[in-house]
Amino acid sequence: MANSQNNQAAASAQSALVEMKDISISFGGVHAVEKASCELYPGEVVGLLGHNGAGKSTLIKILSGAYTRDSGSIFVDGKEATINNPRQAKAYGIETIYQTLALADNVDAAANLYLGRELLTRWGTLDDAAMEAETRKVMNRLNPNFTRFKDPVKQLSGGQRQSVAIARAIHFNARILIMDEPTAALGPAETEQVGQLIHQLKNDGIGIFLISHDIHDVFDLADRVVVMKNGAVVGSARTEDVSKDEVLGMIILGKCPPGATPGPGASSD
Ligand SMILES: Nc1ncnc2c1ncn2[C@@H]1O[C@H](COP(=O)(O)OP(=O)(O)OP(=O)(O)O)[C@@H](O)[C@H]1O
Ligand SMILES: [Mg+2]
Repeated sequence: MANSQNNQAAASAQSALVEMKDISISFGGVHAVEKASCELYPGEVVGLLGHNGAGKSTLIKILSGAYTRDSGSIFVDGKEATINNPRQAKAYGIETIYQTLALADNVDAAANLYLGRELLTRWGTLDDAAMEAETRKVMNRLNPNFTRFKDPVKQLSGGQRQSVAIARAIHFNARILIMDEPTAALGPAETEQVGQLIHQLKNDGIGIFLISHDIHDVFDLADRVVVMKNGAVVGSARTEDVSKDEVLGMIILGKCPPGATPGPGASSD
């Protein structure tokens, strides 16, 4: 708790890592996201909540450059950012970990970390020793219990695979991490492991957008929640200022409780 208060205090003194402002996108006639705004501060975990089809993934795909918005602005470190494709998003340190993790199953953790950016010896051959040594360094910091450096990642548990995917993202300087349903396929022990990873990333000042259906997971992990309904932001709230029931009311009824800041999608009654 003290730590989260420190993070909050630090957060309010800094400019936002990311600010999305009045973001809209339509597919055909469907307003998938309409005038959505949200912010993310260094070391902050923001849970993005809402029913199926609320617009969570679409909003986050605009940040990761997978979709191009129709209107609205994105600011990184207080400066307007140009993000129209994934390459541009990565240049701002924005990395996404999809539910599928996109790992290469038949090779080990180091090969996954360096997939597509392999280290070479001066003879032009793969420098496996250097890649493994670097991978051990990154993983020791992130998940000291991880020891299975020689195994193909398909033999790893869901939580261990998640560690490898996160290690790959942060090794290449991610500062803004988007995790879409990171614990959906995991058991309780592995969910706990991902929670520990997230704490580690927070301590490193990385900001995390956590998309989830599971309000319990989000309450355990997030400093703040942003709730969407029918493409619009119902409101945002610090998890310590609202109850789970109140957040359920935001998700289901679009009703903003007193502890939350209403958005354009809040119901008026
Ligand atoms: N590529 C697309 N083409 C057409 N419609 C789309 C596309 N992507 C999303 N939509 C529509 O936009 C709306 C928001 O979808 P989105 O996937 O962002 O919801 P979500 O909140 O992530 O839902 P879930 O919890 O099911 O993942 C939905 O009505 C969806 O059908
Ligand atoms: Mg989604």
